[in-house]
Amino acid sequence: MTEPAPPTDAPASVAYDLVIVGGGPGGYTGAIRAAQLGLRTAIVDKRGALGGTCLNVGCIPSKALLHASELYEEAGHGLGKFGIKVAGVTLDLAAMQAQKAKVVTELTRGVEYLMKKNKITYLAGTARFVDAHNVAVTLNAGGGETLATRNVMIATGSEVTALPGIAIDEKIVVSSTGALDLAAVPKTMIVIGGGVIGLELGSVWRRLGAEVTVIEFLDRITPGLDGEVSKQFLRILAKQGIKFLLGHKVTTCVSDGKKARLTVEPVAGGDALDLAADVVLVAVGRRPYTDGLDLAAAGVEAGPRGFIPVDAHYRTNVPTIFAVGDVIGGLMLAHKAEEEGVAVAEIMAGQAGHVNYDAIPGVVYTMPEVANVGRSEEELKAAGIAYKVGKFPFTANARAKANLTTEGFVKVLADAATDRILGAHIIGSDAGNMIAELVTAIEFGAAAEDVGRICHAHPTEMEAVREAALATDGRVRQM
Ligand code: NAI
Repeated sequence: MTEPAPPTDAPASVAYDLVIVGGGPGGYTGAIRAAQLGLRTAIVDKRGALGGTCLNVGCIPSKALLHASELYEEAGHGLGKFGIKVAGVTLDLAAMQAQKAKVVTELTRGVEYLMKKNKITYLAGTARFVDAHNVAVTLNAGGGETLATRNVMIATGSEVTALPGIAIDEKIVVSSTGALDLAAVPKTMIVIGGGVIGLELGSVWRRLGAEVTVIEFLDRITPGLDGEVSKQFLRILAKQGIKFLLGHKVTTCVSDGKKARLTVEPVAGGDALDLAADVVLVAVGRRPYTDGLDLAAAGVEAGPRGFIPVDAHYRTNVPTIFAVGDVIGGLMLAHKAEEEGVAVAEIMAGQAGHVNYDAIPGVVYTMPEVANVGRSEEELKAAGIAYKVGKFPFTANARAKANLTTEGFVKVLADAATDRILGAHIIGSDAGNMIAELVTAIEFGAAAEDVGRICHAHPTEMEAVREAALATDGRVRQM
């Protein structure tokens, strides 16, 4: 089944068919697929642990803290409504952090094991191009090695975008990395940026007892999300106690070693506010990361903002060098990078690797969660596509009623002419899992009617997906 790697101008004697720089979800998933397809593969990462930002300082530790902080809040304030009385709930933050660290260590070791199992050479060290077919690695353990290879996959990811004039010390003024590792619950926390990181980590520290204020430049939070979902999301988070200053920008932020003092101005003009906080989280986006890789030595050109441009097959301007994940732009999501890593491995092995960008889900892991796939109403309007909307609220779903998780709704957007599902948006306690059905539907080119005809178990929250699909045709049945 395995086809040979496509011919390159590399000498026949090269040790590797593929060297991957970056051991995050794009890199390690691509490495496994490449090895499965018979390519001699090496992966280089300087962190000393595989899994990239996602596993070490991103998705996984944040989800561990989101889950733990949610249990803490439930135990402290949420169980009474079910007739369960709990007294004396206390927080052992050190133990919570230790649990998070244990999960991360186990998972990074798991990825290392997968490399061994698939006979992938893993080098813990810093990679630098010598030329298009040679990658020099300075090993963390000392010494170095140069890997001769037919192809290279750049999967170096992204780093936190800093704000001009605001120094991140990871103690008082923190990025997401520092915000995952606070040793004490701050009394007050200011989050700069009402995007995914700000709202997830803001939720964690609010639940653990911090007074959280989010300062957002735009007049809305989560700019990429469907507007209606975003509005309801804002209302729910505000009801939970997070304060929002929308349409504001931070002009100065100075730490005196104990507190940070900020000047905040309305974007539209007006009086500045002076604020102070024990911790400030800067979460205004991420930017591509290729420091020290010496792209120029290989002849690879980066775009103006540092993203590496690629063609439809993820080839850079140097045809034997591919790039995937955050470093090429688009959605900065672990699973998007994974899809691209696999596609590149398959393309190199002569197969038809491909990513369907219409079927990449996004999830914000707050409570309730917010999940989406495909187009928003705003995108459909801008593209001039006529669509139908089907909506179903969790207040009308029996299982959500029983669970007391009635916040939110499911919204399905279908083509007005063909009924094909173009987008889906869920705000609800289990939205991140629920969206999978609609991702599957979009992947298979399903119509809203198809989802409406599928038998869903009763009573489940998934019935709300079916009802929303039926609602595109005015056929809501439940409650
Ligand atoms: P983001 O792009 O999601 O949000 C940044 C927010 O900051 C935007 O709302 C933007 O308008 C605002 N902003 C920008 N400059 C500002 C300023 N000077 N003052 C105030 N507000 C400002 O970026 P975020 O939250 O940092 O996340 C980075 C990336 O990581 C995103 O692409 C995100 O998709 C990804 N990520 C995904 C997660 C998930 O899927 N659950 C979890 C965490 C991160």
